[in-house]
Amino acid sequence: MSNNHIPPLPYDASALPRERVRHYIPVTDQEVRGMCAAVGAAGLDDLFDHIPPDCRIVPPLALPEELPYDALYEHMVAQSGKNRLPGVSFVGDALPHYAVHDLVPFVAGLRELLTAYTPYQPERSQGTLMTQWLYQSCLVALTEFEAINASQYDRATALVEALHTAARLSRHKRTHFLLAGSLFPQDVEVVQTLLQDTLLTFDVVPIDAANGTVALAALEAQAAACGDRLAGIVFPQVGSLGCLEDVDRLTDLAHAQGAKAVVVIDPMLLATGGLKPPGRFGREGQGADLLVGEGQPLAIAPHFGGPGLGIFGVRFNRTHKQDIRSAPGRFVGSGVDSEGRAAKLLVLSTREQHIRREKATSNICTNQGFVTTLAAAAILGRGERGMQASCARGYEMAHLAARTLTRFSGVELAFPQTPFWNTLTVTVPGSSAALIEAARQRGVHLGVDVSARLPDSTGNHLQLSCSDVHTPADIERLSVCLTDLIGAPATEAVPPGAVEANVPASLRRQAPAQLPDWDAGALRTFFAALSEQNISPDLTCYPLGSCTMKYNPYLHEAVANLPGFAELHPEAPVADIQGTLEVLYQIQEYFKAMTGLAAVTTQPVAGAQGELVGLKLFQAYHRSRGETERDMVLIPHSAHGTNPATATMAGFETVHRGSDVLSGVVEIEAEPNGQMNIEHVRELLARYRGRVAGVMITNPNTSGVFELNFRQVATLVHEDGGLVYMDGANMNAIAGWVDLGALGVDAVHNNLHKTWSIPHGGGGPGDAIVAVSERLVPFLPGYQAVKMADGYALERPPQSIGSVHRHFGNMAHKIRAYTYLRALGREGVRRMSAMAVLAARYVHTRLKDHFPTLPEEAADSPRMHEFIITLPPAAFERLEAAGIHRNKAIGLFGKLFLDFGFHAPTVSFPEAEGLMIEPTESYTQAELDRFADAVILMLQLVEAQPTILLTVPHFTPVDKIDDVTANKQLVLSEPLTALPEVSPNRISPAQLATMPLEAIAKAIREASSARLDRHQ
Ligand SMILES: Cc1ncc(COP(=O)(O)O)c(C=O)c1O
Repeated sequence: MSNNHIPPLPYDASALPRERVRHYIPVTDQEVRGMCAAVGAAGLDDLFDHIPPDCRIVPPLALPEELPYDALYEHMVAQSGKNRLPGVSFVGDALPHYAVHDLVPFVAGLRELLTAYTPYQPERSQGTLMTQWLYQSCLVALTEFEAINASQYDRATALVEALHTAARLSRHKRTHFLLAGSLFPQDVEVVQTLLQDTLLTFDVVPIDAANGTVALAALEAQAAACGDRLAGIVFPQVGSLGCLEDVDRLTDLAHAQGAKAVVVIDPMLLATGGLKPPGRFGREGQGADLLVGEGQPLAIAPHFGGPGLGIFGVRFNRTHKQDIRSAPGRFVGSGVDSEGRAAKLLVLSTREQHIRREKATSNICTNQGFVTTLAAAAILGRGERGMQASCARGYEMAHLAARTLTRFSGVELAFPQTPFWNTLTVTVPGSSAALIEAARQRGVHLGVDVSARLPDSTGNHLQLSCSDVHTPADIERLSVCLTDLIGAPATEAVPPGAVEANVPASLRRQAPAQLPDWDAGALRTFFAALSEQNISPDLTCYPLGSCTMKYNPYLHEAVANLPGFAELHPEAPVADIQGTLEVLYQIQEYFKAMTGLAAVTTQPVAGAQGELVGLKLFQAYHRSRGETERDMVLIPHSAHGTNPATATMAGFETVHRGSDVLSGVVEIEAEPNGQMNIEHVRELLARYRGRVAGVMITNPNTSGVFELNFRQVATLVHEDGGLVYMDGANMNAIAGWVDLGALGVDAVHNNLHKTWSIPHGGGGPGDAIVAVSERLVPFLPGYQAVKMADGYALERPPQSIGSVHRHFGNMAHKIRAYTYLRALGREGVRRMSAMAVLAARYVHTRLKDHFPTLPEEAADSPRMHEFIITLPPAAFERLEAAGIHRNKAIGLFGKLFLDFGFHAPTVSFPEAEGLMIEPTESYTQAELDRFADAVILMLQLVEAQPTILLTVPHFTPVDKIDDVTANKQLVLSEPLTALPEVSPNRISPAQLATMPLEAIAKAIREASSARLDRHQ
C-alpha cells in the first residue's frame, strides 16, 4: 500500500516519550543488567527459574515477528481496508447506529480520563467520577427513573442482572420470569446461557404475528398461571421488529401479579418529542420497576458490536427506598470533602464483590466506565435540542422509508396497524436474504433478515433501522437500489401518515426531558479540566497491584478508530467483514500459542465475565457426562472477590449449616506463606467427593507469588473429576513463559485491560479472552472465527453453551490488543513479562529493608510482577499514639502517594494491612528509583510527623471525602441546570513530577500543619 492511502496519525508520536520505544519498554540493556544484579539474577531467564521446567514454554512462541511502529500502523490500515463499508446501511437491530457527536473524539483523547483506573481513590479521580455522575443525571432525565448505575457490560447482561435483582427483591420467593418474544433474540440467548443451572427460570411468550408485538392474551394467561412464582415480566418498549409495545398495559399486568415490570429501552428514543419515559409507564404513571438498555450508540460507533454500555436503572423513591441495595454495579454519589467542598465518590459498595464476595449482588468489577464518560459527553454535546433532533430524525427517516418502500410492487409493511418509531419491518417479494445480498453487491446494507422471528414467515421479512445518520438522500439511494433489484416503484409518492400507523399520545413523552443546552466550547473546556483531576500511567508509575496499569499506546486508539473497524456493524454481511474476522481468527491463534491451550473464546468482556464463562463451561462439561451433582467450587481465601461472586452467579449458591458449607463456595486455606494448602485441598476433595465442579486459582496469586502447588492441586482436582479455572489477572508476570496446558488449566481469562495494554477508562471497558483445554472446546460460547478456503467465517461450536454477549464482545479492544501483540511479536511478549517481573523485584529490593513484606512467612519467596508491603510495627505505634487507629493507617498511607503525584497502590487487599505494588515494565529505571525513593520518604515523613495522615491528601482537587455521610444520605443524580464547578488541583501531578521529592515532603508538612492549625 502506498503512503497516499495512510491517513496521518492524529498525534505526533515523536513528541511522546513512551510511544515509539521498542515493545513500549524503556529500560536500556545496560540498566537491565544493573537491575538483574540488584535482585541477584544473572539474567531475565533467572527470574523464572523457580517455576518447574516442564511447565515452561520453550521459545520461540508461535507468534509473528514484531512490526516496527510505522509498518504496524500501515499493516493495521490495510487490515481495516479488508472490511467493506457500504455507501448506506439500514442495519441496526440489536445495535442501533447513531452519529457520533464531535465532543466524543475530543473527550476520548483526554488521556487522564481514558487511561485512569476505577475511581476507588476519589480524591484523585474527580474527573472520572464527575463524568459518570453526569451520565447518571442525563439518564435519570431521559428515563425518569431515580437511579441509573454506571454501568453494566451491555444490554443483554444488564438484563440478566435485572432478573437477578427482581428475584432478590422478592427474597428469592419468586424466581420465574416471562420474557416477551419481541425482545431481541440475541439478548434472550444471553439470558438463556447465563440462567442455565441457576435458580431462575423463564418462558418466552411468542410474538403475535398479526401485529409484531408480544401476544398479550397469551402473556396474561401465562402470568395468571404462574401466580406467585412470577418474579417479573420483561418487555421491550420497541420490539425486535420495530413495533411499539403497549408499555402501560404490560407494566400494569406485571404489577397486578405482584411481579416486577422490567423494561428494555433505547435511550435515544426517550428524548424530548420521543417515547414515554419508563418512569411513567402504567395507567397511573407509577412507572416500571427496573430498566435496561444499550447505551453504546449514545456514545460511539458500532465497532463491530463493542464496547457496549449496559444501562441499568432501579427505582429509588419514597415507595422504593431499599430496592437499590439489591441492584448490581457501581453508583456514583454526591458528597463533600473535609473542608465542605462538593465532591463525587463511589457509594453503596457494600453490595459489591470486593466486599461481599459470594453474597454480592453481582460479580461485576471492571465495567464499561469509559463508555459512560463518552455517553455523558455525547448527550451533553447534543444537548436538549440535539437529542430531540436525533430522535426525531430516526422517526422521520423510518417513516419516509416506509412510504418509499411500499411504493414497490410486493413490498408491504409487515404490521401496518402497529405504530413504529425508527425501525420497521417489511415483507419483500422473494427471499429477504437474497435481496440483502443483491443490495450488498450494490453497496447498500439493506437491513436484517428477521424472518426467523416469525414462525409463519416464508423468509421474506426484512427489518430496516434509521437514525440521525440518515438523510432523505439515503432513502433515495435505497429507492434506486430497489428499483435496480425489483423494478421501478409501482405507485406514486404518498404524504406522511398515509401508510404508517400513528404513534398514540399514550406511548409518547409528554413533558420535555430538560437536558441542558450547554455551549460547545464551554463543554470542551469543562471536560479538559475534569481530565486534569485524574492521573494517567502516561505520567508516572501507577502502582496499583493486581491491576497492571501499564502504558497504553496512542497507536491503539488511532487504529481502533479507523473507520474500517469502527463503522463496521456486527450484523453486516459476512463478505464485508473479512478484515475484522481475520483479526479475530489471528487473536484466537495467538492466545492458543501463548497459553498452551486448545482453543479460545473472544466473547467475554471482562475478567469476571471470563470467570463466569469458565464456570458455565464446567457445568456444561459435567452435564454432558451426566455429573449434575457437582455443586461445589473450591477457591483460595486470597482470591479476588469476583471469584466467589462469579460462582454464585453461575448457580453455585453457597448454603451453610453452622460453619459447615453444604454447597457452593468453599475456601481453600492458605499456608503461612500465602500459597494454597495442598493438604486442605485433599481434605476438601475427600469431604465433597464427586461434588466438586472445579477449583478457581489465581496464579501468580494475589501476593505476587507463583503457586508452586498449582499442578499438584490440578491433578488432585482432575482425579476427582473436577476442572481447573485459572484467574489470569496476573498474566503480565508469566505470559509467554508458562505453559498453562502443562500446568493443568482447563480455562483461563486474560484481561486485555491489564496484560494486553488496553486502557482502563476509569473502570472499563475491559475485555477478557478465555482460553480452554481440549475437553471444553465443544462447549465454547458464541462463535469461533474460522479460516476457510475463500476467507473467514463464523462457526458455532457443536455443543455451545450459547452466547454471553449480544454480538462478539468488545471488538474495539481486540483490535487494540492485536495491534499490541503485533508490536511485541514473539520476542516481545516474553520480554514484556520478564521486564514486569524485573521491575517489581527491583522496586521490592529497594523497599524491603524499610518495610516488612507480606505475607511475613513468604518474605523470601520470589516475587513475580507485584509484591505486598506494610508499615513497620514502630510506624503503626507512632500513628496509634497520634490518634490514627491501626485499621485506618494503611488506607491513609495510600493517600500519601497522591501527594507525591502517584496513584495509591492497592490497599488492604488481599492483606488487610497491605500495600500491593505493581510497577509494570513501562517505566525507566530512573522512574522506578524515584518511585522507590518517594515511598521510603513517605515512611520517614510519617515517622517524623504522624499527624500528616490526619490531613492527607493535600494537593488533590478535593480533600479527604466523607464517604460515611454520602452513603447515609444518598444522592445519585441532579437536575442539570448549570455546568458544575471544577475544583483545580492544589499542585497538579504534572507539577509534582518535576519537583524534588524533598520539596514535596516540605510542602506536605506545611500543608498538614496549616490545616491542623486551622481546625484547632
Ligand atoms: C485477581 C483478579 N481477578 C479477577 C479480577 C476481575 O477482572 P475484571 O475486573 O476484568 O472483571 C480482577 C480485577 O481487578 C483481579 O485483579
